[in-house]
Amino acid sequence: MSKLFEPTSVGGIPLSNRIAMAPLTRNRSPGAVPNDLNIEYYRQRATAGLIISEGTAITHQAQGYADVPGLYKSEAIEGWKKVTDAVHQAGGKIVTQIWHVGRISHTSLQPENGKPVAPSSIAAKSKTYVLNADGSGAFVETSEPRALETAELPGIIEDYRKAARAAVEAGFDGVEIHAANGYLLEQFMRTNSNQRTDEYGGSIENRIRLTLEVVEAVIKEIGADKTGIRISPTTPANDVSDPDPKAVYTALVEALAKHDLAFVHVIEGATGGPRDVLPFDWKALKAAYRHAGGKGAWIVNNGYDRASAIEAVDSGYADLVAFGRPFIANPDLVRRLKENAALNPLDQATLYGGGAQGYTSYPALA
Ligand SMILES: Cc1cc2nc3c(=O)[nH]c(=O)nc-3n(C[C@H](O)[C@H](O)[C@H](O)COP(=O)(O)O)c2cc1C
Repeated sequence: MSKLFEPTSVGGIPLSNRIAMAPLTRNRSPGAVPNDLNIEYYRQRATAGLIISEGTAITHQAQGYADVPGLYKSEAIEGWKKVTDAVHQAGGKIVTQIWHVGRISHTSLQPENGKPVAPSSIAAKSKTYVLNADGSGAFVETSEPRALETAELPGIIEDYRKAARAAVEAGFDGVEIHAANGYLLEQFMRTNSNQRTDEYGGSIENRIRLTLEVVEAVIKEIGADKTGIRISPTTPANDVSDPDPKAVYTALVEALAKHDLAFVHVIEGATGGPRDVLPFDWKALKAAYRHAGGKGAWIVNNGYDRASAIEAVDSGYADLVAFGRPFIANPDLVRRLKENAALNPLDQATLYGGGAQGYTSYPALA
């Protein structure tokens, strides 16, 4: 039997196997509050070693898509409590992905219909998901953002700190700081979205500063053993690019190594697309982290299947493998991988928004 199916621990969290459920936005929490359907969805998937919740907005401003959950109001914390209780009762563990979308938003989703915020006032060539007046969903161009003032950044860091506290109150086993997929923290790290001239723009040291300050604030609030981070060094998702991802992300993981993080979660390649979108030495990135003293679990993701996941863990390269789309369609993915059983196909039409169909309706094995 592969080590993939053996227990381990991440930070202080004991896990029953090395399979993680990747964060998956499903746009089924109207009012930003988790509901009964969300409870059932996560409960069904509790045999994952570690569930990483869908991206969860740290503030109203941090929100970029219709009907995503938040952590910034008491009803949402109450709703999440029921989710984390259900997962724990079913023997699972769950952290939440704390999320600020930056420029990947639309004025209709923002407080007082204001502009989304970003490192620089450069619109992303990207789409977001909003609701029409009749309640149907639609993909629309993201709005032009305004550049955050330097004096506003301590407030953004404070928003992450508060969300981390709210996550613990809601019963989560920890948090994953979302620094991937072209959202706020990655917008600061990449050159095409960051043209600042203050100490948060220009050099690599400056561009990774906000991410590191968020990590430090979250660690101080809830402890490094409850704190993880997600990165995507080569993804073009949401229109981010950089001439030298190797230099940026080596500097980042070396700085992260100074903290006793629970985990580092790496999306290898274009998120949900080709793993080799740009040449990149993933093993060297991990080696740089370990060489700098980093002890957190190394979680890998993007296009893994049973064979490549087993190889990644048994070879010692990865500590855990995160599955995204396979977990949408297979609530009992761990059992299916263990038994080498067939997987349910994914229904693309029900990914974003809607009800139980394509959400809690996928069958488990008898
Ligand atoms: C419907 C859907 C929603 C997603 N939502 C998120 C999200 O909220 N946060 C995030 O970091 N990645 C998100 N992703 C990316 C996945 O976590 C994952 O990186 C991607 O699906 C590749 O893994 P896979 O090949 O196992 O599916 C999403 C992907 C899909 C298909």
